[in-house]
Amino acid sequence: MITKEWCRDVIYDLPGSGPLPRNYAAVEIALHWIYNNLKNPQEWFEQVVMRCHRKYLIQEGLDFGNEKGRKPYNLMGHIWDVPRGYYGDGDLLQKMYDCLSISEYESVYTKTLWDHYICARPEMLSLQFRRSMFREHIEVFIDKGARSLVDLGCGNGSYAREAWERIPKGTVLGIDNDTRPANDIGLTFINQNVLEYVPHRQYDIVYSGGLFDYFNDKVFRKMLRRILMYQPRFIMIGNIQQSPETQALMGCLGWKLFDRTRWDLLSLTVGIFSPEQVEVHTDFTGHQHFLKITL
Ligand SMILES: C[S@@+](CC[C@H](N)C(=O)[O-])C[C@H]1O[C@@H](n2cnc3c(N)ncnc32)[C@H](O)[C@@H]1O
Repeated sequence: MITKEWCRDVIYDLPGSGPLPRNYAAVEIALHWIYNNLKNPQEWFEQVVMRCHRKYLIQEGLDFGNEKGRKPYNLMGHIWDVPRGYYGDGDLLQKMYDCLSISEYESVYTKTLWDHYICARPEMLSLQFRRSMFREHIEVFIDKGARSLVDLGCGNGSYAREAWERIPKGTVLGIDNDTRPANDIGLTFINQNVLEYVPHRQYDIVYSGGLFDYFNDKVFRKMLRRILMYQPRFIMIGNIQQSPETQALMGCLGWKLFDRTRWDLLSLTVGIFSPEQVEVHTDFTGHQHFLKITL
């Protein structure tokens, strides 16, 4: 029988800095139980997990505060503390891309075994596929004559920049209410809420990855309608579908993401687009879906 005490003991039995691969199954069971059975899983996580985690970091001289001159946050610390606010997670994504592009073992953001546990989630791998799916589809749109793109919730702007490099003499706009990367010729970044922004011109492609996961169904559909203001020919919207164990981990860490299945995504388009215009593409991990709409 799984109990709160059993779950606590699973965590207390871990080596100082978090779970080793052989502990992953027990941690998954414990966090899943806590997330689904406690009223306030975040409070439990703070008392049982984060206390040990902070103690370890301090002991090792790796305090994860973000004050000037101190070491940067590790992944787990950042996800827990959300230092730039819940929506301002472009920074966190950058840390994750960094862990994926150089080896996670070389990254300055993976200081504890908890960080490696996060890197081992299949959803981390799907972040990599988000980029390759973006590239693949953008190439097809460009071949079909698309010359302009808007990236909604562009984060640090790396996708927008990539699109701009791929579209000769093209126009690319990135919109994000948190980050504001530098502007270039033909590449513009606007610091604004996408739910309020009114475009001043037409864009062939509307792309968005990692933004609609924050929107409940009502806001999702509201934004789908707003996208029509860009008069696009192609729309591509990414939405995550986490595994139950990652959902539990993220829930314990206080994150509310709207997981959506292929069917959820298709049904949210009803009444706005015709079914012939809509497709869903899924990466091979099964955790990243892209709603693709051709107008
Ligand atoms: C998960 S990140 C994705 C960043 C980038 N698209 C990527 O895939 O790496 C989500 C981004 O959406 C931005 N965001 C969230 N809500 C927003 C809103 N209402 N208007 C504009 N940007 C928003 C956040 O600031 C964050 O940079």
